[in-house]
Amino acid sequence: MKGTFPIDKFRELRTPFYYYDTKVLRETLSCLHAESIKYDNFVVHYAVKANANPKLLSIIRENGLGADCVSGGEIRAAIKAGFPASKVVFAGVGKADWEINLGLDYGIFCFNVESIPELEIINELAAAKGKVANIAFRINPNVGAHTHANITTGLAENKFGISMPDMDHVIDVALEMKNVKFIGLHFHIGSQILDMGDFMALCNRVNELQDKLEARRIRIEHVNVGGGLGIDYKHPNRQVIPDFHDYFETYAEHLKLRSYQTLHFELGRAVTGQCGSLISRVLYVKQGTNKKFAILDAGMTDLIRPALYQAYHKIENITSDDTVESYDVVGPICESSDVFGKAIDLNKVKRGDLIALRSSGAYGEIMASGYNCRELPQGYTSDELV
Ligand code: LLP
Repeated sequence: MKGTFPIDKFRELRTPFYYYDTKVLRETLSCLHAESIKYDNFVVHYAVKANANPKLLSIIRENGLGADCVSGGEIRAAIKAGFPASKVVFAGVGKADWEINLGLDYGIFCFNVESIPELEIINELAAAKGKVANIAFRINPNVGAHTHANITTGLAENKFGISMPDMDHVIDVALEMKNVKFIGLHFHIGSQILDMGDFMALCNRVNELQDKLEARRIRIEHVNVGGGLGIDYKHPNRQVIPDFHDYFETYAEHLKLRSYQTLHFELGRAVTGQCGSLISRVLYVKQGTNKKFAILDAGMTDLIRPALYQAYHKIENITSDDTVESYDVVGPICESSDVFGKAIDLNKVKRGDLIALRSSGAYGEIMASGYNCRELPQGYTSDELV
């Protein structure tokens, strides 16, 4: 089965563009809500980095999620979409002074701090404004995740977070400061994780650290385990909604949360991934030496994931039911890595056919670039194309 697309509307539009099915997004959000509400101390934030399209952000905000931001630009986008500052968390290894000041001015919920030098600057900038900033320490739990090496973040070799042996010391430093308030611990082990065992390993680490804090009689109210839940790229129609049930249950069963604590999540891909497709037109079908190339008007500038992470996106010819043939599906960019897929079975392709690159709602439009002086792709929602 192919996705359901308003093909007639698509034909009128300039390609390439992103198409977001808001029904899928709303269903995903309602399932996410139903599964997380089972636990009264779970709070879910949306990782804005996955997709900051304002139309999607406002739907996500309407569904009550908080916002996980990694830059001043993302904080602005979240506030503009109506997320209350009290639900904004701010992470990132390199926060610039203006970005910290922006967070302080809005009075965001929490800064996730990754080093002592950063802590010192937050304390200093907060003091200058006569404020006290809530901070959580991002701890690197040294937990590997079964995902692509470029998107694991929780190993000691990664640049992220504070190492576990340093935790006691950074907390001591924070407790001495007047303009920061230490309220929690933050973690994130990687992205596109489908093996619940990885999240279990994180839970075990968090439990160890919580015991250490308790032994020191340090009480924190917030534990943030980041995001990372993956989606089914191979079968976007069969498994449209990620397995939120197993995900939350894994944490509920394995993470020993204290009765006074709140557990925060920062999901990106699992929220927006399956609602989006990159829609492109076939420019040419070219016969190579021993294969055929379908040359699209979309390229790695529009969707970089295949080139950057060898990521798989299901490719469909949504305007043909002809017999299936094999193609290398490529873009127009002057780079050999501008390939969406090799030896892909597609219904026979001709110039002008519309091709959908599925499961592109996360880390698609937001990672688009203007390389080769190309225009950025537009994003349309199904609500706009009725
Ligand atoms: N929290 C933190 C601290 C993160 O670094 C990330 C993602 C998330 C939450 C959200 O993770 P998610 O739930 O989406 O897995 N561009 C790559 C993914 C990079 C993820 C970066 N951090 C890709 O296209 O696969």
